[in-house]
Amino acid sequence: MTVVTYEPAGEIGYIIVNNPPVNALSAAVRKGLADAVAAFTADAAQVAVLYCEGRTFIAGADISEFGKPPVEPFLPDVIDAIESSAKPIVAALHGTVLGGGLEVALGAHARVAVAGTKVGLPEVTLGLMPGAGGTQRLPRAIGVEKAAEVITSGRQLGADEAVAMGILDAVADGDARGVGTAEARQWLTRAPRRLSELPVPTIDTAALDALRAKVRNAARGQVAQPRALEAMIEGLTMPFAEGMKHERKAFMDLMRTPERAALIHAFFAERASGTVPAGVTPRKFDRVGIIGGGTMGQGIAASALNAGLDVTLIERDQAAADKAAAAIGKMQDGAVKRGKLAQADRDAMMTHRFRTATDYAALSDVDLVIEAVFENMEVKQDVFRELDRVCRPGAVLATNTSYLDVNQIAQATSRPADVIGLHFFSPANVMRLLEIIIADATAQDVLATAFALAKKMGKIAVPSGVCEGFIGNRILSAYRTAADYAILDGASPYQVDRAVTGFGFPMGPYQVGDLAGLDIGYATRQRKAATRDPRERVPVFADRLAEAGRLGRKTGRGDYIYDDQSPKGRPDPELEPMVAEVRAELGVTPREFTDDEIRDRYMAAMVNESARILDEQIAAKPSDIDAVLLHGYGFPRHKGGPMHWADAYGLDRIVANIREYAKADAYAWQLSPLLERLADTGGKFADLNGGKK
Ligand code: 3HC
Ligand code: NAI
Repeated sequence: MTVVTYEPAGEIGYIIVNNPPVNALSAAVRKGLADAVAAFTADAAQVAVLYCEGRTFIAGADISEFGKPPVEPFLPDVIDAIESSAKPIVAALHGTVLGGGLEVALGAHARVAVAGTKVGLPEVTLGLMPGAGGTQRLPRAIGVEKAAEVITSGRQLGADEAVAMGILDAVADGDARGVGTAEARQWLTRAPRRLSELPVPTIDTAALDALRAKVRNAARGQVAQPRALEAMIEGLTMPFAEGMKHERKAFMDLMRTPERAALIHAFFAERASGTVPAGVTPRKFDRVGIIGGGTMGQGIAASALNAGLDVTLIERDQAAADKAAAAIGKMQDGAVKRGKLAQADRDAMMTHRFRTATDYAALSDVDLVIEAVFENMEVKQDVFRELDRVCRPGAVLATNTSYLDVNQIAQATSRPADVIGLHFFSPANVMRLLEIIIADATAQDVLATAFALAKKMGKIAVPSGVCEGFIGNRILSAYRTAADYAILDGASPYQVDRAVTGFGFPMGPYQVGDLAGLDIGYATRQRKAATRDPRERVPVFADRLAEAGRLGRKTGRGDYIYDDQSPKGRPDPELEPMVAEVRAELGVTPREFTDDEIRDRYMAAMVNESARILDEQIAAKPSDIDAVLLHGYGFPRHKGGPMHWADAYGLDRIVANIREYAKADAYAWQLSPLLERLADTGGKFADLNGGKK
């Protein structure tokens, strides 16, 4: 297939890129662009329009080539050929013009965009920086400070903002070819205007330190952002060609960092998880019923409405239904305030596509139901019995349970093939993760429907088998337990939170516990008490907090104290003595922990449980586990997820640690056979991704 063509058409010629799905700058596209520029040079046309077929202008370098030996022609040289053209080249943009795509456009002599186009330099989000002139042409076009913000944030800008900043010349309605042709006519008698020839913008040295500090803070320990800033500034002190070489060197240095590998792993992991079974057609899901309008039901309803679906929400009585409707309305008001939703669309969706009811009969013709009632098997089975009675044949029946057995829930119906788990995360209208729980009898087209629904809602869907807590919550229980045991043995919750946030999680387990409410874990421990193995240690200190009514943020006190003085929480001086008392009762002699040891135990528990989940085929592949931890549990993206991190850290080191911990507590530290096998044979989790990440 020809990925770039040159089409002569009289006084205007067309350079057309066609490399689906996103016109990434593969070696063939780079070569094609260079050849097309040469063809334009040889042609009689006075101006060329460079535009793309398909859903977007070039969305960047071809990420799948990263980490492999570079192939000529290199992108900076291709862009140099575009910019050096003696006749003007107009870039006509649409879709998402990102990274190398925007750098190509900056090499052109004019930039026009179709309304709705977005532009940006997202390289830092992949642990990289612009490597084809972005740090040298952009500041010449818009000034150092604005360029620094665009480059180090990696954010996408709307076309209007990009015009106001001076990145684009104009926005117009129409298609890329039409918009580009109109602009090209203005250039028939004009000479090319090259950004590289603009004067170097002044650098306010006084403001530079503040800028550096700002970028470092926002980067939270990542290297790409500060490096991009420095490379830009240093390059601007040199002649343009030297600045370009300097930029390229910094780009290639970043290409070799573990952060780059981790961030690109994350990029592919989140795209490789939710594959619809081949040849299976999803069922219809335009009309959705939601049962329970509490925390989760409200968020799921908002998310479904935002996806354009019709929502009927069932609550136990009118008062609860009204409360849920008001809360959903408020969420949508928030979206209007943030400019994400037009007021008219908000009003239309709440009037025409949303209603509440207290009678399940209102669900008789919905296509898909999501149950989000209390986390209790009897209550959920009652709901599913009722759904079995009222729903039309073929309706998909889903549960949002966090831990319960979806097979058992399905058994309450006469149609277990239609039952599936859809485990949303809180707040469901914000969090992008959706675990899709496949029960024993779940039909393939029900699974396909769940994936299609996730796509429509903009979620990252990860399939999971049935087990207590599925992928994410089961792993969470394991590492949270490792943290609890460190406390029983001498660490403090504050030290654990410090060690975990030091690793890169936004919050430690005790900060998370206070946010979620300590009653949840307490109830789970109570439920399991009767069947607990006598060898399992119990975090008695956590029970004491819950029994004292210290349930976390909602009561103003949990592991931390929350008040006007410290809305985000401060250490509680009474906590340590209470934990010490528990240790004394249990006959534990406390010992010192370093932050590193706490981190190693936390991560070992996370990796070991993940390996167990793979052993049991609850997760289909390691990168699915990474996607879950990255998107549901705050795992630092620049470390790629626990499986990627484990490969980089060394499975042999993790196994050695676990064997050591097991000497003191063999029950808690049972080594996963898969992890042991991989470590012993020099294997990696990445080997199990099956070609896909
Ligand atoms: N290279 C290779 N493949 C890419 C790609 C890229 N730059 N961008 C997207 N793809 C692939 C995806 O992996 C996916 O493949 P799949 O269908 O096999 O899973 C397919 O294209 C479609 O991608 P999405 O599912 O993400 O499609 P969306 O429509 O949701 O999003 C997008 C499109 C906004 C372009 C999004 O894909 C994206 O953000 N891509 C990355 C853009 C980027 O970071 N560019 C900068 C690259 S670094 C660079 O340019 C360096 C330069 O300075 C030298
Ligand atoms: P919640 O207590 O906030 O809401 C439950 C709602 O269900 C209440 O409004 C209640 O009135 C309603 N309800 C109960 N029985 C009903 C019935 N028979 N018919 C109609 N409505 C009924 O609970 P929350 O937090 O929303 O949790 C709901 C489910 O989602 C649980 O299974 C929970 O495990 C799961 N979940 C919760 C998460 C969270 O962070 N809160 C995250 C992911 C899943």
